[in-house]
This record gives sequence, structure tokens and C-alpha cells, in this order.
Amino acid sequence: MGHPIQQDGLTSGPDGANLHHVPLDEVLERALTCLREGDGPGAEAALTAATRTPEDVRVLHLRAVAAHLRRDDTAAERLVAEAVSVATDPMVLASLHNDLGNMRLEAGDPVAAVAAYESSLAVHPTDAPTWVNLATALRLAGDPARAGDAGLRALELDRQSPLGRAAVTAAVLALTADGAETRALELVRRWVRVDPDHPGARHRLAALGGLPQPDRAPDDYVETLFDATAEAFDPHLAGLGYRAPELVADRIAAILGRPAGELDVADLGCGTGLVGALVRPWARTLAGCDLSLNMLRLAQARGCYDVLQRAELGAFLRAEPTAYDLVVGADTLCYLGDLGPTTTAAARALRPGGVLVVTVERLVDAVGDWRLTSSGRYAHGEEYLRSVCVAAGLVDVEVTRVHLRLEAGVPVEGLLWSARRPVTGSGPTGAQERLAETPGQGATTARAEGRMGG
Ligand SMILES: C[S@@+](CC[C@H](N)C(=O)[O-])C[C@H]1O[C@@H](n2cnc3c(N)ncnc32)[C@H](O)[C@@H]1O
Repeated sequence: MGHPIQQDGLTSGPDGANLHHVPLDEVLERALTCLREGDGPGAEAALTAATRTPEDVRVLHLRAVAAHLRRDDTAAERLVAEAVSVATDPMVLASLHNDLGNMRLEAGDPVAAVAAYESSLAVHPTDAPTWVNLATALRLAGDPARAGDAGLRALELDRQSPLGRAAVTAAVLALTADGAETRALELVRRWVRVDPDHPGARHRLAALGGLPQPDRAPDDYVETLFDATAEAFDPHLAGLGYRAPELVADRIAAILGRPAGELDVADLGCGTGLVGALVRPWARTLAGCDLSLNMLRLAQARGCYDVLQRAELGAFLRAEPTAYDLVVGADTLCYLGDLGPTTTAAARALRPGGVLVVTVERLVDAVGDWRLTSSGRYAHGEEYLRSVCVAAGLVDVEVTRVHLRLEAGVPVEGLLWSARRPVTGSGPTGAQERLAETPGQGATTARAEGRMGG
């Protein structure tokens, strides 16, 4: 920060000599730099040099932010009020109210934040980011219906606003979780009018019954959804007690026994690599595929995959016939309705004797094969899973009821599903037969022998 700054807006050299006035712009620049680095005390120290112009709206504004950083919200509110009283430029006024909203939101008072954002929008009603902020505050204040309206307004003002879309999506989910599905459907219908080509809008409309249910979630919907949520995925899922990866690993251990690092393994919809980390001990090679580049980047950082591909899982499987001893997928096939083509592709990607282990969500409140639920994911029936295995020629099918995670405090019902590609009579090696028939350590050893036998 260079020289220490004295009370009257003068700086001094280390020996207190060479005093001179600091131009206000320079003081503000220093304070702003400190605030950007989260250094509230540094900003306040810098601003003491501005005592000749204490009523300057910019000085008051930055002091308010600095006070907020040291959690003195009473001082922050007072300083913003003083700044508002001297502000003449409507844009500055709007920005002050918006910042006050942000401070109140961060301080855990969404109701007060709503009032501040509304004051900002009263002055500057076409500012899309402030409408997004208002949507967030309204949702946190327990008013998802108005949050949806605010998010839509942001989207109308800026058709490309990802935050506007996220605000509408969050409002739709909150309304659905509250049981207000009619209101959610009405909001999504309006969203589709504003954003007709967006895959998320159309998929949510189908999920709420406003369109015929498609037999799978569109790839661009999945990609957009997980690209947007990748960073938050692991902590969010940990908070929900997510256990699909552990369930998959437990089933693998039950079928294949202790890991010996000798299998070629594919992880479908690998996400951030939670499954990869658990199945790695069984793997000689571990390949992961996913539609979301942001998820793949996090999987790569985990360092347990040999190969990561940005690919749709069906295409990935079809490109690799008889390449794998083990194909796994946790919480991925819930983005597909019709599992017939995928199961057939998985069966073909497995070597004879190879094993498939996946989780899906369970269709609890309806009969039938599968259904797109209001969450935007698919749920599947137990008998349906058995039937697609039969059609794909898989054997040793096991389907077990499990809990996958919590949603709004309620366990999400799931199915842990495993099956095996049979060892055909026409020419499996002895090693492949043992992989197929012998649970435990022998299976992985057999795999190695099979490769040696050519
Ligand atoms: C809920 S996450 C689960 C990630 C990981 N399996 C785990 O358990 O942590 C679902 C993942 O599947 C991916 N996904 C969904 N449908 C897919 C498809 N058809 N092809 C490839 N990836 C898909 C998503 O991009 C996302 O990363």
C-alpha cells in the first residue's frame, strides 16, 4: 500500500516528512482495490485520507462496504443512508440500494434485502442483474412465486442471462417442492414464451406435464444443467447425504470381491469423479464419460481416471464393443427414460462375464416402466429394469431398493441394479468364465489371465 495515510488526507514518508494531499480519485482507487481483496480495514485506512470530502457519495459508499466487511451492519446501513441522502445521479442511487440489498442478503435478512432491491429497481427498472438479486432474495424470503416473476423479468431484459435462467429454475423447483405445481407450470409456460429455444425451459415444461414426456432428457439440457452446477456439486450432494457412489462400490465388492486393480472399467456420467475415486482400486484402466465439460474438469482434477471423454454415454458405449469388464453409473441413468438402447449398448460394451452396476430413481407412485417426474429426472420400475436386461441378453439381474440422498429432508427412493453379460458357449476363455462365475478375488485374477491368453 505504500505510504501510511494520515487523518487529514495527507500522506507522509516513513519519517513523516514530504507531506502532500492525496487526490480523492487515488484514495478511492486504493480503497476499492482493498475491498476487492476483502481487506475492509485497509479500505477504511485508505478512506481516512478523504476526510476533506467526507460527504462524497463514493466515500460514503465504500465506507459502507468496508463496515459491512467487518460485520458492522448498523454502520453500513447508516453510511448507505447518508450516501443516498447526498446522491443526485439516479444510477448511483440505484447502485447504492442494490449494494444495500446485497449486504442485507449476506447478513441473512432477505426480507430487508427485498425492500432495498425494490428501491433500486424503482430508480432503474431495466437493470437485469438487480432483478436477479430480487429473485434470489424473494425466494430466500419464502416467496417463490414472486421470485419467478422477478427472474422472468431479468430474462426478458437480457435473453442470454444465465443467472436469470437459474433464478427462474430455482423458483420453479421451490414451487414444485412446496406442492404448488400449477403455479410452477404457469411460470414455466411463461418462461418458454420468453426463452422458446432453451432446452431447460422445454424440459421443465414436459416435466410438469405441459408437453408430452420425451423418452430422455435432451443432451443440451443435461450439459447446461451440470455445467452451471458443477462447482457446487460435491458440497451440495454431501449436504444431502448422497450415497449412490458408495452403493455402487458396495455392490461391486459383493459381486467381484476384493479389488486387485486388474479390470477395465467405464464410469457413465462420471460427473466430478465421486464414483471413480471409489472404483479405482478395481481398475487396471478407468474411463469416464460425461456431457458436461465443467464436471469433467473436476473429475480430471481428482486424478483417478486414465481417460475422460466428453460424450453422450450411449455413443460412448457403442464406440467400444467388448472393451470393459465393469460398467458403472451412479445417478446418471435418471436422465434417461427409455433404458432399452442404453442397456443393449452396455451389454455390448462389456466383455463376456463383464458386470454392469448402476443406480436409478425408483418409480414409487405409479405403475409402468418409467416416468419423467417434476424434478426433471426419470424414475423407473423394478420389473422394467429386469425386462430391459432380458432384452439385452444380460443375466444375474439384481434390483435392490435403496435410498440415494435426501431431497427437502425426504429420502429419494432408488434402485441399485446390477447384471452380467453371460459367458457365451462359443469361446469364452477359462479366465472369462471364472470372471463370470466366481465372486471374489478370483474374478480379477481371471481377468489378467484372460489378457495373457490373448
Ligand atoms: C447426478 S450427476 C452424477 C455424477 C456421478 N456419477 C456421481 O455419482 O457423482 C449425473 C451426471 O451424469 C451426466 N449425464 C447425464 N446424462 C448423460 C448422458 N446421456 N451422457 C453422458 N453424461 C450424462 C451429467 O452431466 C452429470 O455429470
